[in-house]
Amino acid sequence: MIAGNVSPFRPSFGTNPPVLAGRDQVAAAIGDALDDGPGSPGRATLYTGARGVGKTVMLNEAEAQARQRGWVVISETATRGLITRLVSEGLPQAADLLEFPDFERHISGVHLPMNLGGVDIDMVPLNRPPTGLRTMVNSLTDHLAGQGTGLMITVDEIHAGVREELQALGIVIQHCIREERPVAFVAAGLPATVQDLLNDQVLTFLRRADRHHLGVVDLADVADALRMPIEAAGRTITDRALQVAAEGTGGYPFLIQLIGHWVWRVKPDAPTIDVVQAREGVAAARRRMGALVHEPALFDLSPTDRQFLAAMAEDNGPSRIGDIATRMNVGSSYASQYRLRLIGADMIQPAGRGLVAFALPYLREYLRENATSLGL
Ligand SMILES: Nc1ncnc2c1ncn2[C@@H]1O[C@H](COP(=O)(O)OP(=O)(O)O)[C@@H](O)[C@H]1O
Ligand SMILES: [Mg+2]
Repeated sequence: MIAGNVSPFRPSFGTNPPVLAGRDQVAAAIGDALDDGPGSPGRATLYTGARGVGKTVMLNEAEAQARQRGWVVISETATRGLITRLVSEGLPQAADLLEFPDFERHISGVHLPMNLGGVDIDMVPLNRPPTGLRTMVNSLTDHLAGQGTGLMITVDEIHAGVREELQALGIVIQHCIREERPVAFVAAGLPATVQDLLNDQVLTFLRRADRHHLGVVDLADVADALRMPIEAAGRTITDRALQVAAEGTGGYPFLIQLIGHWVWRVKPDAPTIDVVQAREGVAAARRRMGALVHEPALFDLSPTDRQFLAAMAEDNGPSRIGDIATRMNVGSSYASQYRLRLIGADMIQPAGRGLVAFALPYLREYLRENATSLGL
């Protein structure tokens, strides 16, 4: 009997996949950092990579590993008010969770200008010493150190717009690391955005962080990540169909879920997924990838970046920088500058001497099909 025809795949951002493909080493690195104790460099870790490559999922994994070890986790996103949320919500909630009675929870003296979301709420008259982020983190980590665990703070989608708040948090983390407190800081962001932050002299703690650039996953791992959930949900997939589906992903993690989902849905009641269903599912997933991945990725770029990509889309395989420059009607040093920017943004990759290729699967097709609406 078929267990039910609901797809086991999870084609939405930030949602953990049924099988995490090809990330064993990255996952082990954070576990080791937690086990190795305060001097471990992995206690500040940074994940970078293109949209849909699995950064948020890696943060979830890091958090899960911390919780398994009895650590307290505060999970944040880099939007304005980050420090305020930590001081007024994240840290007090962590203290409540621990039933930690003498925790200083009165917010005062968070030294940030109001336009950065700084607060100065005095819930009690100032007959107590003012409490800031550092004091709160210190008292929490003193307590946790006594229990042999620690505090993990994760921040997703870091970008230069919250530079000052990341800096304030970074100073506290840096002090903790120097004082050998049990603290781990794990952040994630798009490569070009993170690069902006890393160029910033004040964010030394980020530059020293253990950096993992997440990329595509081996097709053998992709095949496992497709087959195992299908079988666990009570159906089978032929080898040929599995090959078609796995190759369709180009190793790109989001497509593992999107293709898995749409391949499943072609004939959800058929006990076996064959190659015809696989082809149809890949095509259905591809049609949805534009709105879900290509469009937002292109939106993050400048018009010139987009023109560069449109010039590449004229080729059927890797493009020559010289040809791109000619098509854009610019000099080759100008084109080289944009080449570097787009490599930094994970949109393209070097493909041999003087050649570049698209990094996101089906971006070429998307650009060709949507050139007019993109204004290219
Ligand atoms: N290693 C992986 N194996 C299988 N699926 C993955 C993997 N990493 C991410 N995914 C899936 O890809 C999608 C995007 O992951 P997400 O972490 O939101 O990407 P990002 O934060 O980099 O944009 C989710 O549906 C997730 O389940
Ligand atoms: Mg994400």
